[in-house]
Amino acid sequence: MIIKKICCIGAGYVGGPTMSVIANQCPDIKVTVVDLNEARIAAWNDADINNIPVYEPGLGDIVNEARGRNLFFSTDVEKAIDEADAIFISVNTPTKTYGAGKGQAADLKWIELCARQIARVSTSDKIIIEKSTLPVRTASTLKEILKHTGNGVKFHILSNPEFLAEGTAVQDLLAPDRVLIGGEQTDEGIKSINALVEVYARWVPLEKILTTNIWSSELSKLTANAFLAQRVSSINSLSELCEYTEADINEVAKAIGTDSRIGSKFLKASVGFGGSCFQKDILNLVYIARSYGLNQVADYWEQVIIMNDHQKLRFANKIIKNLYNTVNGKKIAFLGWAFKKDTNDTRESAAIYVADHLLYEQAEISVYDPKVPEQQIYVDLDYLATRSSSENKQLLKIENDPYDTCKNAHAIAVLTEWDEFNDYDWQRIFDNMLKPAHVFDGRNILDKTKLKQIGFLVNGVGS
Ligand code: UDX
Ligand code: ADP
Repeated sequence: MIIKKICCIGAGYVGGPTMSVIANQCPDIKVTVVDLNEARIAAWNDADINNIPVYEPGLGDIVNEARGRNLFFSTDVEKAIDEADAIFISVNTPTKTYGAGKGQAADLKWIELCARQIARVSTSDKIIIEKSTLPVRTASTLKEILKHTGNGVKFHILSNPEFLAEGTAVQDLLAPDRVLIGGEQTDEGIKSINALVEVYARWVPLEKILTTNIWSSELSKLTANAFLAQRVSSINSLSELCEYTEADINEVAKAIGTDSRIGSKFLKASVGFGGSCFQKDILNLVYIARSYGLNQVADYWEQVIIMNDHQKLRFANKIIKNLYNTVNGKKIAFLGWAFKKDTNDTRESAAIYVADHLLYEQAEISVYDPKVPEQQIYVDLDYLATRSSSENKQLLKIENDPYDTCKNAHAIAVLTEWDEFNDYDWQRIFDNMLKPAHVFDGRNILDKTKLKQIGFLVNGVGS
């Protein structure tokens, strides 16, 4: 079994970069990325590489090299499915917003639609690869749907979860810590696993390609995200204690991070984690555990989310408290809206929830983010449905220039750790703000000593 033609269903933050790197590293494999969203595909095909829909450092060069050679973006889903030997399913699996499992379970509607479409269209045997993060045992659902095509076509299902982090996607894909491939432990299953191993082996050392049974692979992805998010909630929980005890969370993180058993990464206290994965995957883990009656397991992981929600609210309340218990009519400048630096993704960004709480207190917000498009910020706020779209537009303004954003503001809130924030002329910003001028650094990235010397009143997280 040799993979020569790949189709990827879903041209989002996972499918787009992942397939671009596969195509870039395997010039002999034809990779077609398909999506129902015509605007998204048009953007991936835009002649100006700066207009591709996902912002990731280095991605433009990768796409430029492979696009039109062996990398194609198309809306013709059926054609790409039929001609492929291997199909990656990379569609979104958001948390359910209705019915049983509402607010916790993953909504597998799109996955099921993909499976049905593959079953209907395929005329040759195929390897079907779960790329999106899915609840453990989803492969059995896929198998069940694909088994009943009645036209003799055979499908082999693999789980190959993606571990890339946004903002470092290209680097993570080019030099992954590991590639995980789970499949059925039968002769056919192992042949399919090996076919996919051969694709990655073009650029990933073999010892970094792990193969497991399919259920371990599915659960490993949820577990990895749960552990990472748990570290952030753990350090954030202690950041609150620091604020009462004069301990400094940055010093605590450094001190514990030198223990090789703990490790220094992912110990940065913040306004709270965001992104499309952590919350969704933990809620999903909680739901699965509860569905097996494992209430203690479910409660344990749920606490990670409870802590994160608390951290976002706590940050907003700290702003209000320090602005003399009222923000009514006061201008608060937001630096950053993306859920982390080096991405234009805003899904579950802490900024959305902090803004919503401050708007509830009738603050006026002005936002600057170097990469997030203006309309996305309103889409994020409107999605919460706390107030009307026109009220959101009236109370929250978006600026293209950070100095205009901060002009006449009572306070600045740093919501994303963009590097450029440190390079600003902070004296100029101070001179144009109302006094006393406050900075609430939700990412602990600014030089506090310098800001205090200028005259700012500075609050970080846990320090
Ligand atoms: C995560 C996983 O890291 C990745 O392996 C998986 O494939 C998808 O989910 P991502 O959500 O893109 O990736 O970004 P990540 O770097 O994990 O950050 C998630 C959130 O945690 C961000 O809001 C980030 O700012 C926050 N964070 C991270 C902290 O607040 N402190 C930290 O120390 C680390
Ligand atoms: P992720 O971060 O997991 O990549 P995104 O939401 O960025 O999630 O991308 C998922 C993409 O999958 C979207 O562009 C969506 O239009 C696409 N999609 C969802 N269902 C289908 C489907 N049945 N066929 C083709 N594309 C789909």
